[in-house]
Amino acid sequence: MVDGFKVKGKTPLNGTIKVSGAKNAALPIIIATLVAKGEYILRNVPNLRDIRVLMKLLEDLGMETEKLDETTYRIVNNGFKRNEASYEIVKQMRASFLVMGPMIANLDEAVVSLPGGCAIGSRPVDLHLKGFELLGAEITRVHGYIHAKADKLKGAEIPLGFPSVGATQNIMMAAVKAPGKTVISNAAREPEIVDLGNFLNKMGAKITGLGTPNIEIEGVEELHAVEYSIMPDRIEAGTYVIASLITEGELKIENANLDDLGVFKTELEAMGVKFEKEGNILTVIGDLKKLKPAKIKTLPHPGFPTDMQPQMMLLQALVNGGSSMEETVFENRFMHVPEFNRMGTDIIIKHGIAMINGGLSLTGAEVMASDLRAGAALVLAGLVADGETIINRVYHIDRGYDKLEQKLNAVGADIQRIKLDI
Ligand code: UD1
Repeated sequence: MVDGFKVKGKTPLNGTIKVSGAKNAALPIIIATLVAKGEYILRNVPNLRDIRVLMKLLEDLGMETEKLDETTYRIVNNGFKRNEASYEIVKQMRASFLVMGPMIANLDEAVVSLPGGCAIGSRPVDLHLKGFELLGAEITRVHGYIHAKADKLKGAEIPLGFPSVGATQNIMMAAVKAPGKTVISNAAREPEIVDLGNFLNKMGAKITGLGTPNIEIEGVEELHAVEYSIMPDRIEAGTYVIASLITEGELKIENANLDDLGVFKTELEAMGVKFEKEGNILTVIGDLKKLKPAKIKTLPHPGFPTDMQPQMMLLQALVNGGSSMEETVFENRFMHVPEFNRMGTDIIIKHGIAMINGGLSLTGAEVMASDLRAGAALVLAGLVADGETIINRVYHIDRGYDKLEQKLNAVGADIQRIKLDI
């Protein structure tokens, strides 16, 4: 049996919904505590399954972790007790491959399991490994594990063939202590990269160019433990922006920083949406019946975020007229399309582009969450569908949304957690 959601549609949403700390910033920052010894305090950490899995991995490597309150963790790094991150843990969460950077920064030898694929694509790690090799590590691949000999790292020029978020983060962590200068060109520019860089700089690293395609790292000998507060989750914020538009209620979103979402904001404005911000509270104004269709293409930041693609496609499906969505970041990220179509949308995929005939109304159905963001989009679809929607495999949603159903229920949704056969 697995957890599912039963969503009753067409309940108006009203009130304030608060955005938690960013999963995709918290994961690399927690991993970055492996870079230097000492006692760390991390605040605004979201309450997620992925975070709990990661804490297990840190403990396995010899760290002490303690949850001080709902959003605060204490992590004590007294040095590595093992130099191997096992498949058992890495297979549960791809981001755990990022431990490789801090491991090779500190250990002469490190062994980390290859993560394997996932529903949205094959997701190789070749760019991470190429970066480590350019820094001077000797990399071999044995029985599904990467072995690195890393006793002589040195700053290097590292051009990335694609601005991979994970490769940029892994290489940054590997390079902070490497003597000399490292330059990562065509680096990822996502706000989570900036948050990780700010954390490392607070620890004593010398990183410049964060948020640009050229990141420069001057190697330092020692770094130290710090206290840090994780940035708010821009994808969670964007998910609530879509929830607000499609339910046509009066939702107020706390801690939403739209500037972090690249062209998401300008695309919505072009459709006719307006935003009002008062202090920390964002209000979204737009009449669903009057919004214009949109042609959208996902791209690395500051382009349209692939993690907002399923939620945006739902909005496109509810707006009158023909829209399209092209996915260029992941090769297989349209698993939600047949599920949406079960609920009454008219979307067909041709050559990697989803063609959306918008403006149809949705009816509740039994559907399956294939990954985290697809799962969230199905919850949103359930909110506007006629009748009841049953969403299976919500463990994908629990990986990355902090109390999604409680937060939505508190503003008027009717979502029940139920047990289902897988
Ligand atoms: C991160 C985010 C994820 C988001 C993605 C893109 C975390 C924990 N996850 O994932 O939510 O959807 O960025 O914004 O932060 N690639 C290679 N070789 C590599 C690495 C990546 O070919 O060595 C390819 C991938 O297969 C994919 C693309 O690059 O097609 C983007 O991947 P990447 O930016 O690395 O995403 P992640 O860091 O895995």
